[in-house]
Amino acid sequence: GGQPIPPPIKDTSLKLVVDKDHQWKPLRAGDQRGPCPGLNALASHGWLPRTGIVTPGEIVTAVQNGYNMEWKRAVLVTYAAFLVNGNHLTNLLSLGGMSWLTGHAPPPPALASGLNTHGTFEGDASLTRSDAFLGDNHSFNETLFQQLVDISNKVGGGKYNASAAAEVRFQRVQDSIARNPTFNFANPRFNTAFVEAVFPIVFFIDGRLRAAGETGLDLKVMRGFFEDHRMPKDFHRRGTVSSASDSELDFVQAAHDYIPGFNNGSARVVNNFVADPNFMGTQTELVCALYEKFVNSTVALYPNPHGELRKALNQNLDNFYVAAEAHCDQIKPYN
Ligand code: HEM
Ligand code: MG
Repeated sequence: GGQPIPPPIKDTSLKLVVDKDHQWKPLRAGDQRGPCPGLNALASHGWLPRTGIVTPGEIVTAVQNGYNMEWKRAVLVTYAAFLVNGNHLTNLLSLGGMSWLTGHAPPPPALASGLNTHGTFEGDASLTRSDAFLGDNHSFNETLFQQLVDISNKVGGGKYNASAAAEVRFQRVQDSIARNPTFNFANPRFNTAFVEAVFPIVFFIDGRLRAAGETGLDLKVMRGFFEDHRMPKDFHRRGTVSSASDSELDFVQAAHDYIPGFNNGSARVVNNFVADPNFMGTQTELVCALYEKFVNSTVALYPNPHGELRKALNQNLDNFYVAAEAHCDQIKPYN
């Protein structure tokens, strides 16, 4: 069942991440990797179990150790994903698809089917992964990466910087509006899509380069993370903690006009993007609306849990709320 959240790490200095105990290793049969290059690379370097079958606590600690991600932000993202994609009975999550290693699953409509599961956390208009409607939503897509390279060459001086992120984000949304009749860009995807566009700049630039003022990510390094789950050979994490709610995020959001919404599902046609009238739910801050959305999705998957399952869900919901508290009204669906 559920476990308490591990505490923040103590040493947040700039340091070597690819040390002798954390060398890259190729995948073995059955190892799970999925739509998140950050977590994929941690698993392929042994900061997470190389199987790709992980506990939420292991993720919270690994993203701090590997990238200096801020504890609270790590808690928010990790428990959001775990609530909808994890197995609450065994406390295990697949970074990719279904795996017997996550153990006996709770009864349907629960999924416990890993980060690849479309429409839960994973969503449309990803940088380097196709929309689920149009193809494979979790594997590296060379065509999409080439578009990112072209844009980075045009506006980023050959690097993936904030200007490149802003144009890639916009192009991917336009592409989905034009080609995916099921395109969904409503909350929570409206939030995560922007955050993910700046994560490569915030976390994949070597800490020594960042300290020297570098603001763009080398495209070979980027390909390593995105395609091969691989960090550069002497990768150093950044020397300051970050939540990614930095200036880059504001820049990417402000560079174009965006509204949360979707291609009109009933009409099933493209180029029919309409605003989501209810994207904030009952809460007024974006992070609280995201919190509410994930709690509601959890209730849809677990309408009436009993015993150990109910206990674990309550623990994981409480863990999730830790990252939202102070701003947001707590929702307690099972009390
Ligand atoms: C995308 C989960 C942390 C970098 C994703 C996606 C998921 C996910 C489910 C797929 C969303 C989509 O594009 O459809 C998580 C969880 C984390 C986490 C549970 C726990 C803390 C990180 C960290 C980094 C990172 C620390 C960077 C170091 C990215 C990037 C994408 C992404 C760049 C976008 C990939 C693309 O659009 O092609 N993540 N992530 N993530 N994640 Fe993570
Ligand atoms: Mg996606």
